[in-house]
Amino acid sequence: MTQPVTLSARDGVGVITVDNPPVNALSPGVPEGIRTALETAERDTSVRAIVLICAGRTFISGADIKELEEAARNPAAGGPDLHPLLTRIEDCAKPVIMAIHGMALGGGLELAMAGHYRVAVADASLGAPEVNLGIIPGAEGTQRLPRLVGVAAAVDMCVSGKPIKAAQALQMGLIDRVITSINAGDLLSGAVAFASEVAGQPVRKTRERNDRLGSASENAAIFAAGRAQAAKIRRNQTAPLFALEALEAATTLPFDQGCKKEREIVRKVLASDQARAMIHMFFAERAVARVPGIPKETATYPIANVGIIGAGTMGGGIAMACANAGISVLLKETEQPALDRGMAAIRKNYDSSVKKGRFSQAVMDQRMALIHPQLTYDGFDKADLIIEAVFESMPLKKQIFGEIDKIAKPDCVLASNTSTLDIDEIAAATSRPQMVIGLHFFSPAHVMRLVEIVRGKHPSNEVVATSLAIAKKLGKVGVVVGNCRGFVGNRMMLPYMREAQFLAEEGSTPEQVDKALTDFGMAMGIFAVDDMGGIDLAYRVKQEYAYLRKPGERVPLVLDKLYEMGRLGQKRGMGWYRYDESRTPIPDPEVHALIEKTANDAGIARRTITPEEIIERCVYIMINEGARILEEGHAQRAADIDVIYCTGYGFPGYRGGPMWYADTVGLKKVYARVHEFHKQYGHLWEPAPLLKKLADEGSSFAVWDAGKEK
Ligand code: NAI
Repeated sequence: MTQPVTLSARDGVGVITVDNPPVNALSPGVPEGIRTALETAERDTSVRAIVLICAGRTFISGADIKELEEAARNPAAGGPDLHPLLTRIEDCAKPVIMAIHGMALGGGLELAMAGHYRVAVADASLGAPEVNLGIIPGAEGTQRLPRLVGVAAAVDMCVSGKPIKAAQALQMGLIDRVITSINAGDLLSGAVAFASEVAGQPVRKTRERNDRLGSASENAAIFAAGRAQAAKIRRNQTAPLFALEALEAATTLPFDQGCKKEREIVRKVLASDQARAMIHMFFAERAVARVPGIPKETATYPIANVGIIGAGTMGGGIAMACANAGISVLLKETEQPALDRGMAAIRKNYDSSVKKGRFSQAVMDQRMALIHPQLTYDGFDKADLIIEAVFESMPLKKQIFGEIDKIAKPDCVLASNTSTLDIDEIAAATSRPQMVIGLHFFSPAHVMRLVEIVRGKHPSNEVVATSLAIAKKLGKVGVVVGNCRGFVGNRMMLPYMREAQFLAEEGSTPEQVDKALTDFGMAMGIFAVDDMGGIDLAYRVKQEYAYLRKPGERVPLVLDKLYEMGRLGQKRGMGWYRYDESRTPIPDPEVHALIEKTANDAGIARRTITPEEIIERCVYIMINEGARILEEGHAQRAADIDVIYCTGYGFPGYRGGPMWYADTVGLKKVYARVHEFHKQYGHLWEPAPLLKKLADEGSSFAVWDAGKEK
């Protein structure tokens, strides 16, 4: 194995190079290597200054997250200990210059801040993204960052977790020079030149720089604003609040005591359910790409040209997702007005992004130029991937697949965006079912990260691997799911929606149910979701699934009435709620009266329902369905279901997804409640055998997943 850290010399400057692919994480061996190299360079009388630089595509991009996961399991140990190394760097008698390209994030930034100077290439990013893992900068980052950038900027970086680019970092004082490079290798030259300029000068220790720590009164306002920002952008999350507490310590305590305080907080944070859940999500999002039976080396088809059929809500969104990734798109409709509407919606969307400053007009123009609207299949014979996004109708989808089968080249992947239909039946309309797969995008498709990759009986391994690659290319998370009704996400959503409606019939208002759900952390309440998707859609799905009902099964009663009244949701300004122009849901007494009358007419006893019961009934019914899905093999792992729910259904990431959440509650408890609800409400609550089995064994979904990975 090559050494992860090496030392060389250039123009009297010691150059420490970290080479720990792929992202130069601070894995075991790296900190030790840096220390040895530093001490050697410090002793070497021919060396006047020291540059630390990284090989490969990035500076040190952070801690080794496997080590963090270990630390979250054993928080008393406090996690990887970088403190002695950082002090050693800062105490070095010769100036240490950190040379940054790619990303200096988390532990990487903390290490960089212990240097005496930092230089970076223009497109480098620097940040403290720890909040995304439910933790805080734990290697003195909360103490050094405000000393370099001031308290307000440090608060913003730690609460938002967003990285900043080199120019802004320079302006803020986080780095000392932007190295404008034309050729590769210039960062090293620039850093060595910088080092020669500062060699011989007394070193500047970040920990001794107190001039930007502000006054008590200024800081009080900054921290209050930080807490307000955290409540807004990271609702219910504890990590940003802990980060603020540690930053506050930087402003009130001497450096060493501040570091001690930071360490105490880190132990608390690592022990939190939220950190464990978010670290679980980090690994779960990466694990989805490992699909049993699809080896890593499986060949993929190159995808450069995409044909999309249908320029409605989904077709338009998918076209934008492709254009955003630089992929050229043919967008086909049946009639000019529909095509015009579709293109106008795309233009409006991009226009609004330009107005909000998300990207420039030039970028918008480039993206628009990649989308080619048309009424024919012209050019579809050259497409590498065709995605069908027409109305949800089996005869129509079969007709379309029959048409494209005649046109598409033999190695073209044929995908349907169906949200409910049988992908094998669709594939059977072609002469090449091995090329057919479901790519279930979520609305709005250019924003939502989830794609369910629906694998029926037929697709070849190459088609599955290509689908995973496409999802990645579009910046999305592709999760392979089985071909069952509603696949994974919607299949779990249906009982959840149904249960919410039962709760309303039994005495909760829609807004009480929604409040309990959003307080729990859901991005939106389920009634608000129903209004957004459209009551007509929910009604159609309910009708379609009616044949699956068992005799005497309880059925929600109010939805059909809303449909008959034309209360079709947001688009009509009324559904479960009323809406004004801002689309804020407003509780509607008319709906309350309708629910009450419907319940009374049906003889349903009404009572006050606690938020705890609302959560148990809405979430446990999903978990129970999730357990069935797992048992049937329609999801590969419980963690896949978690990824689906956190990326596509607004389930809070800090609870780790429904299956992880079930583990944190304890499967014995979840099962006991499901069992009680079964006795009380009948067969819709029949416990999934896998849930019962794991509860009886004192096991968990995580253990079940681990067993499957072996
Ligand atoms: P939509 O009604 O907005 O768009 C469908 C479009 O297909 C219409 O513009 C229609 O003119 C066009 N079309 C119909 N026949 C065509 C043909 N032969 N050739 C070309 N274009 C044709 O429907 P939406 O919402 O975009 O749904 C499309 C598909 O995506 C459906 O299968 C739906 O189940 C699925 N889906 C919808 C989601 C949503 O939130 N709306 C989410 C995920 C999947």
